[in-house]
Amino acid sequence: MIVAIDGPAGAGKSTVARAVAQALGFTYLDTGAMFRCVALAGPGRDPATLDIAFDGDAVLLDGRDVSVDIRTPEVAQEASRRATEPAVRAALLARQQALLAAGDWVAEGRDVGTVVAPDAGLKVFLTADPAERARRREVPVEEVVERDRRDEEREHAPLRRADDAVDVDTTGLTIDEVVERIASLAREHGAAR
Ligand code: DC
Repeated sequence: MIVAIDGPAGAGKSTVARAVAQALGFTYLDTGAMFRCVALAGPGRDPATLDIAFDGDAVLLDGRDVSVDIRTPEVAQEASRRATEPAVRAALLARQQALLAAGDWVAEGRDVGTVVAPDAGLKVFLTADPAERARRREVPVEEVVERDRRDEEREHAPLRRADDAVDVDTTGLTIDEVVERIASLAREHGAAR
C-alpha cells in the first residue's frame, strides 16, 4: 500500500509522513530530498547519474552523507528551481517509481498523488496557512510564498491537490493530532495496523 502525502513547503509533510510510516510499519520516502540532492550536486551533473540513497534517516549522495547540507534555505530554493526541468523530474520519477513498486510506503512530496503514485491507496493534501509555514521553517513568509508559486505554476508535475485526495489543514493542530488522523484514514483504506 502507498500513502501519498503532498503539499506546500512547511505544511509538516516530513515530520508527519515519518511518524505515520512509523505508526503503520511502512517505509518513509522523502521525494523532496531527492530534488535537494540534484540542487546540491549542481548544474554540471547529469541528474540521471546521481547516486541518491536513503539509510535510515540519512540521505546519501554519491556515498556521502548530505542530510545536513541539503536542508539550507538556499538548497531549498535551488531544488524548487531545478524541479522545473523535465530531465530532472524524469530521472527522479523513474527512481521513485522503482522504489515504490514493492512494499508499503508513506511517500511525501508535491506530485506523489498526481504523478508518482496515481493509484496510491490513500492520498492526503497537507496544508497550513503561509504565516504558520514560514514560522515553522524560520524563513520570511515571502520565501515560502515564492516557492509555493514556483512549485504550483511550473509546467511539469506542478504542486496540485489530486482530485481524490483528502485535505488535512494542520494550522493549529499538534503533530500527534495530524498523525493520528492520517493513520486512521490509512487504516480505513486498508492499512493493517
Ligand atoms: O519538500 P521539500 O521542501 O524538501 O522539496 C524541495 C523542492 O523540491 C520543492 O520546493 C519542489 C521540489 N519537489 C518537487 O518538485 N516534487 C516533489 N515530489 C518533491 C519536491
